[in-house]
Amino acid sequence: MSDSYIQNLFAERIGGQQYGKSTAIYKFEKIKRAKRAALAANPGAEIIDMGVGEPDEMAFPDAVRKLFEEAQKPENRGYADNGDSGLKAAAARYLERVCGVTGINPETEVLHSIGSKAALSILPAAFINPGDYVLMTVPGYPIFGTHAKYFGGQVHNLPLTAERNFLPDLDGIPAEILSKAKVLVLNYPNNPTGGSATPEFFAKVVAFAKKNQIVVVHDAAYAALVFEGKPLSFLATPGAKDVGVELHSTSKSFNMTGWRCGFVAGNELMVKAYGDVKDNTDSGQFLAIQHAGAYCFDHPEITEKIAAKYSRRMTGLVEALRKCGFNARKPKGSFFLYVAAPKAAVSGGKRVEFRNAEEVSQWLITEKLISTVPWDDACPNLRFSVTFAAKDPADEQRVLEEISRRLGGVSFEF
Ligand SMILES: Cc1ncc(COP(=O)(O)O)c(C=O)c1O
Repeated sequence: MSDSYIQNLFAERIGGQQYGKSTAIYKFEKIKRAKRAALAANPGAEIIDMGVGEPDEMAFPDAVRKLFEEAQKPENRGYADNGDSGLKAAAARYLERVCGVTGINPETEVLHSIGSKAALSILPAAFINPGDYVLMTVPGYPIFGTHAKYFGGQVHNLPLTAERNFLPDLDGIPAEILSKAKVLVLNYPNNPTGGSATPEFFAKVVAFAKKNQIVVVHDAAYAALVFEGKPLSFLATPGAKDVGVELHSTSKSFNMTGWRCGFVAGNELMVKAYGDVKDNTDSGQFLAIQHAGAYCFDHPEITEKIAAKYSRRMTGLVEALRKCGFNARKPKGSFFLYVAAPKAAVSGGKRVEFRNAEEVSQWLITEKLISTVPWDDACPNLRFSVTFAAKDPADEQRVLEEISRRLGGVSFEF
């Protein structure tokens, strides 16, 4: 069958005339296929799924109740556009109460988002001209870079490695890249490495941004999920508001991934530009959802309970993996445990060598029915997410023991 004329109309940014013809299978599709095959080979078996990047639980009942109330109000029914003052005011209160960020003007320095992903896809339009560079950490969440490339921009990758505590080397960026760089995108606590920033690192980022006239977008999607101390906001850094914005979201902090609600806060001019592009992109999140989101931002004790659960699971998982030889160390936040991938495994008298983390991940699904996400960008690593399905602490314990049991007979080589 010949191609439809539509095939010739696709923009180069998504592959042009070749759009949809690639036979390459991407990482997450490979994981899905391996899980399906493992289940077919082991009918009725339990896959322990630690590949999921979202909470295993529902939003808390009070958030659902608030949504129910707000959805019944006629004044909430229409286009929300750039939002009303409810979420903005709650966001400013949240930043102060939870992160110690004072002086945020809710009317000029905060605007809601339909989740951080949406904000990351909107912001490039405000900054990127053809040829401009974005500095992005790898491995990482690629959305800002993808959209920057849509606008003819380029991405310069900053590798995150355990040796540098998963913080990028800002001093090692070549001068010719720096001169064309406009945006630095950061994300702490980090997906996938679980790395955390420090006040000293953020102070360095502010100085770096000012010196090189770069704006900073800090994606704080996991900011409140910390296992010790208080969440660290980039905006708490002196001078941060002069150079950047921070993105917060109810997705991970309040078990509300499907609700699509968050906010962008910080530099007034950047927030305004985000709002101008946003206004031409969407018509705002349903006000009932925004108001339920505002309720959550006023109830950070919800996040504390969620973080305590992840912390408990993380302690158990670190212990289970260390027993099998993994150099697992409990991160300070997020729900990701990122460990160096083994080079080989001996199980049942059979030795298997792995060329990369992807091969390890496939082997773990096929042989042990354990699903993880491999990352081969900076170093071969596996990401275990403690969002595995377990209905209560006793069930969590059962899952952790099952992980130990399945991996117990394996000798890993690193
Ligand atoms: C680093 C990072 N940023 C943003 C997002 C998306 O968050 P949201 O649900 O608020 O769009 C994710 C989701 O996995 C993420 O890992």
